[in-house]
Amino acid sequence: MSLTLNVNGVDHSLDVDPTTPLLYVLRDDLGLNGAKFGCGLGQCGACTVTVDGKAVFSCLLPALAARGRRIVTVEGLGTAAAPGAIQKAFETEQAAQCGYCIAGMIMRAKALLDANPKPTEAQIRAGLQPNLCRCGTHMRILRAVRRAAGLPSEPAPVRA
Ligand code: FES
Repeated sequence: MSLTLNVNGVDHSLDVDPTTPLLYVLRDDLGLNGAKFGCGLGQCGACTVTVDGKAVFSCLLPALAARGRRIVTVEGLGTAAAPGAIQKAFETEQAAQCGYCIAGMIMRAKALLDANPKPTEAQIRAGLQPNLCRCGTHMRILRAVRRAAGLPSEPAPVRA
């Protein structure tokens, strides 16, 4: 079936099975390898992209469901030579260890900060909660999101 998908501001006409997960179309048909396959079950977030500004698990979303919507992948935020603000914050805070989760983390953060540019610490943690990092760089990832939001690098102490 012929399907047109708008990815990172560009329309692509594709001949794909409409039930194919969006993640496979992005990676296999469009060569956008930022989003990763982790679990394929909506449980890890490695495949996160935004669709109409909302973070989605692209491993679960059929390509047909993304037709006519605005899909953004990590490649749409910037390049290695000219990283976007969130990418730059992740780089500055050295938030990646193995890096497998990072594109998904960045896209989850992008959706969060676009909807709420000055989130509280609780909102940042809740916003990123669907995405997992097996290396355990969560503290650096949180610092990167705070940096991207222009917040202090350490959260205010929580009082009992
Ligand atoms: Fe999509 Fe894990 S690969 S949530």
